[in-house]
Amino acid sequence: MSTAKPAMKHYLQFKDLGRDDYAYLFERARWIKGEFKAYRRYWPLADRTLVMIFEKASTRTRLSFEAGMQQLGGMAIYLNTRDSQLGRGEPIEDSAQVISRMSDVVMIRTYEQGIVERFAANSRVPVINGLTNEYHPCQIMADIFTYIEHRGPIQGKTVAWIGDSNNVCHTWLQAAEVLGFEVRVATPPGYEVEPERAGLRGAGHFRQFADPMEAVRGVDIVTTDVWTSMGFEAENEARMRDFADYRVDGEMMRAAHPEAIFLHCLPAHRGEEVTAEVIDGPQSFVWDEAENRMHVQKALLEYLLLGRVNAASLNDQPRGKAIPDRGEPGERQD
Ligand code: CP
Ligand code: NVA
Repeated sequence: MSTAKPAMKHYLQFKDLGRDDYAYLFERARWIKGEFKAYRRYWPLADRTLVMIFEKASTRTRLSFEAGMQQLGGMAIYLNTRDSQLGRGEPIEDSAQVISRMSDVVMIRTYEQGIVERFAANSRVPVINGLTNEYHPCQIMADIFTYIEHRGPIQGKTVAWIGDSNNVCHTWLQAAEVLGFEVRVATPPGYEVEPERAGLRGAGHFRQFADPMEAVRGVDIVTTDVWTSMGFEAENEARMRDFADYRVDGEMMRAAHPEAIFLHCLPAHRGEEVTAEVIDGPQSFVWDEAENRMHVQKALLEYLLLGRVNAASLNDQPRGKAIPDRGEPGERQD
């Protein structure tokens, strides 16, 4: 394991890391997942503390960070707006000063991206974006890891995003630029991607479609998300009307590549953005996707705190192969 202290890095958007970093992290996540499945103890973050700040609700993000940090030998502390001074107007800069003196890494789920940026600017320790109105980078790291596990490299592939051009969509678009694939976005009129808000460098990696059937033709991944994200509840009624033709259904999956997979960050609303037939069907990998949040985030935590560890011996399995379910007693099941 390397001993040099890594330069401090934050993870606030997908593009904060490069292609080479992701290749390392995906390989690392695969190894870390294998250790977890075999109940092998791996405690590189003993005595380290993660503080998790939630200004919005969460199941997966809290659970995956908290369980992941403990599995790495560290501990995680949960703060929310209601029970902390964050909800009583303490400036985010002051909170960052204090919280980062008592912890080794911080994860924040909040509203505007500017909040995580201000926190990071005043933090002594790495800061991870656990979802903002604009981005959800840990989610897309897990989504791409899931694709690689089941289908191999994502370079040159095509992804259809159906629905709202929200935080998860923006992150797919950034990932397409960093990793070299194409995203075809189908949104209703008035909900199109704003490239600047998505933090894109150019328009070379995405195409916009009004017709979702056009967008899904021949693609490798079909994905979507709720029509109304957290913080936008006041628009719910209008959105239910506007998005009614943007529901991922069996016909769309049949128009995609025969090997296409369906992904959804969850929570899902069956009958709204996706039919039960699709999300509960054979092309859906949403449960692996949810589980993989924990494995990729463990790789990320290790990377931000320890830098690249010696992975020379970790290349013994070809990319694109899922961790096998060995099914032996005493081993965790996939
Ligand atoms: N996908 C995701 O971030 O889920 P939670 O809102 O449950 O954390
Ligand atoms: N776009 C959704 C994702 C939830 C994980 C939201 O922001 O509410």
